[in-house]
Amino acid sequence: MAATRGVAIVTGSSSGIGQETARALARRGLATVLVARQRDRLEALARELAPYAPSVPLPLDLSHGEDTVDSVLAEATARTGPADVLVNCAGHGMYGSFLDTAADELHTLMRVHYFGPVAAIRAVLPSMRARGRGHVINICSMSSKMGPWGHTGYAAAKAALSTFTESLATEYSHSGVRFSVVHPGLVDTPFFERGDLPRLRVRTERRMIQPELVARTVVGLLDRPRLQTCVPRHYRLVDAIAACSPTLLHRLVARQSRPHALLGGVGDRP
Ligand SMILES: NC(=O)c1ccc[n+]([C@@H]2O[C@H](COP(=O)([O-])OP(=O)(O)OC[C@H]3O[C@@H](n4cnc5c(N)ncnc54)[C@H](OP(=O)(O)O)[C@@H]3O)[C@@H](O)[C@H]2O)c1
Repeated sequence: MAATRGVAIVTGSSSGIGQETARALARRGLATVLVARQRDRLEALARELAPYAPSVPLPLDLSHGEDTVDSVLAEATARTGPADVLVNCAGHGMYGSFLDTAADELHTLMRVHYFGPVAAIRAVLPSMRARGRGHVINICSMSSKMGPWGHTGYAAAKAALSTFTESLATEYSHSGVRFSVVHPGLVDTPFFERGDLPRLRVRTERRMIQPELVARTVVGLLDRPRLQTCVPRHYRLVDAIAACSPTLLHRLVARQSRPHALLGGVGDRP
């Protein structure tokens, strides 16, 4: 592969935040390995990014287990060189009450949002550690900090990834490898087209941010690494409220996110 400013693997790059992140990384001169299931979308993005840096489309279902993820990523990095950056962004949402959510769906959320990133990290970390550099950036969610209505399995899977990242950062703090967690709020992407999520979108649209802002935050972390960051930044207030009073945070979140609140209740009136 031609000389680049490093190699970045971006999962979930066929759409939304991952796609914008791959664009931002390519513009910075990094070769990108584009991971998602929809091959045609990855190939189109690889063609678009070619003027900036080489890109490899890598169709892969991250729920297919550690061995598959490991062997597919190993094959890709044999072509590109070892990964300097891994952005774990792939994933889908859920919106619905716990008892209406099938057990299978809860397992799938965990496989995609937690075990998929874990497998990808295991695939790249040995080489990063051996070279004494690298950056793993995991896209989590504000919902993992707040537990809003209808997000049980999703928020839990994101919380698992967030806590896992914190432990990794501790374990590898002297390795030269950096770890970051990005917690976006509501982002205007096709994420909200699945299942019952359009119901949530209708009432929260005016609070949505654009995926480009999340992508800029991700790329900014390469220059100014931080373990945790929220997008938009003022969502850090959630941590401050939780530190003062977890009960107050819970009350605010419950009042804001209950379906009847979303249908015209406090804080969300048109
Ligand atoms: N949008 C929001 O409000 C929001 C807020 C907080 C956090 N997030 C998180 O941000 C990340 C990106 O979401 P987005 O908003 O950009 O949604 P999106 O536009 O729907 O993109 C999701 C991406 O994940 C890929 N993906 C889903 N399941 C996969 C699987 N099993 N294997 C491989 N790739 C898979 C999709 O590609 P294929 O369909 O081609 O596989 C797609 O590229 C997700 O982890 C999401 O949880 C989103």
